[in-house]
Amino acid sequence: MNIVIVNGSPRKNGATGKILKEAANYLSEKTGCCVELRNLSDYKMAFCKGCMLCYKTGNCIITNDGISSLTEELKTCDAVIFGTPTYGSNVSGQFKTFIDRAGFVFGQLLYGKYGFAVSTYENAAGREAIKILKKLFLYSGAACTETLLVKLDHNTDPFKDDLNLKTLHRKIDRFYKNTKLKQKPSVFERIMHKLVINVGLKPRVFRYKDRYAGIIQRWKEINII
Ligand SMILES: Cc1cc2nc3c(=O)[nH]c(=O)nc-3n(C[C@H](O)[C@H](O)[C@H](O)COP(=O)(O)O)c2cc1C
Repeated sequence: MNIVIVNGSPRKNGATGKILKEAANYLSEKTGCCVELRNLSDYKMAFCKGCMLCYKTGNCIITNDGISSLTEELKTCDAVIFGTPTYGSNVSGQFKTFIDRAGFVFGQLLYGKYGFAVSTYENAAGREAIKILKKLFLYSGAACTETLLVKLDHNTDPFKDDLNLKTLHRKIDRFYKNTKLKQKPSVFERIMHKLVINVGLKPRVFRYKDRYAGIIQRWKEINII
């Protein structure tokens, strides 16, 4: 089983990074899964240019910053863990840029996969960042089976409180089990996945087939059509 973990914090070894590193170590030691931890701070990630050529060709025109290969890793993995600090009641700027660049929704990048959303925050609105990650999973075809929200003072160790470590391990165990057993998404998720594809995306894609040729090809590959 392949699991890709993405850390959206600009601070690789900050609180979010520590949690995700522990998740990666725990998963690979306990389950033998192939786990890749990617820090967005390691990429010189360019902003999306808004050209929409990815819809037509299936590929982003920006090819020199590594985001396309990260996107390919997401396409071929079984499950993802996305983590971000809360910035201004939202995900980090790095994570938002990643969302724009990877083409999650039209490309149904996480179709049939499992997602775990992690956020850290200091004071308020950590739940907002989790909501955004959950919505990303929902709209791009994944089942979000776990979330972890950790409140802590800036620059402190999330595992100073032993409960955080225990909670993380418990949630990782459940996440792994659900992924391995290919647990059905919830009824709400199944309805939403169908609505997103059939009502939100298909009418537009089939109306402008040329403009969305890359998306049609991707949907054929993953048997949406
Ligand atoms: C630019 C910026 C914006 C932030 N906005 C919020 C916020 O809206 N709510 C909050 O509770 N914490 C906020 N924080 C605090 C971080 O979310 C918190 O310290 C987080 O754990 C940092 O994660 P990291 O160590 O992985 O970088 C903000 C921090 C920064 C640098």
